[in-house]
Amino acid sequence: MTDATDAVLDSVAVDRAAELIAQATNIVVLSGAGISAESGIPTFREAQTGLWARFSPADLASPEAFARDPARVWAWYHWRRTLIARGGPNAGHHALVSLAATQHLHIITQNVDGLHQAAGSASVTELHGNIWRERCSNCAHRRTARIAEAQGDAPVRCADCGDLMRPDIVWFGEHLPTRALATAEQAVADADCVLVIGTSNQVYPAAAFVDTVVAGKATVIEINPARTPVSGDVDCCLRVSASLALPAIVAALDAGQPSR
Ligand code: OAD
Repeated sequence: MTDATDAVLDSVAVDRAAELIAQATNIVVLSGAGISAESGIPTFREAQTGLWARFSPADLASPEAFARDPARVWAWYHWRRTLIARGGPNAGHHALVSLAATQHLHIITQNVDGLHQAAGSASVTELHGNIWRERCSNCAHRRTARIAEAQGDAPVRCADCGDLMRPDIVWFGEHLPTRALATAEQAVADADCVLVIGTSNQVYPAAAFVDTVVAGKATVIEINPARTPVSGDVDCCLRVSASLALPAIVAALDAGQPSR
């Protein structure tokens, strides 16, 4: 596990990131599980603490797992809802809201926790769905659960047909939502500055967006306590937690270093 909170903030890198952001007109954020880590929500791939170190995706996050044991799958998602409701958005999520007040900024996230929106971000594309949304596995019924419902543990039943509801999440072996993919593709094509925050850049097709921006003309800032496959190819790296780096970047912009 990387101890993000112990890492030292590099003020040169903060100023460099602020400079790149101030020069940009279209900013895109590509976020992953790491931005929510300090809300108390485990990431997926970190040794010891990552969810996939403790649980098997095949048992919990696939259509086959749901068909085999819906109660087990639902219990896992209810547990994760509880963590999300308890943690809420952190300083990293809030800093992106501040940034969007003065910059044109669109967030493309692999996260299903809804914490960008809970912080107040309005322009968010979710590539892997949302843990609070549910859809019937039989009919067209959909609903959004309220945060107060995070306490349950039983499988959810459809109010229309009585069949099982499932979390509206992209499971292993399923396709990403077409509209979200198209929105993300356009946003990435239009971006002149991209912040890659808290993702291991290992899960495709989401990681393909990172590959695209690193190969393209946009400037790229990575915020991640650990190195990733693209770390060597970005314009600026902040090797600290998102909740430390993002407020510092916003403060540098506000202080006029550089001015905006
Ligand atoms: P990963 O768990 O693969 O990677 C999390 C990244 O966050 C790692 O690179 C960490 O170093 C970094 N990190 C940890 N703490 C951080 C902090 N405080 N601030 C910033 N970064 C931090 O998560 P993702 O890349 O998001 O898919 O995983 C992608 C997908 O894999 C998920 O959306 C999920 C999973 O299977 C589905 O469930 C469909």
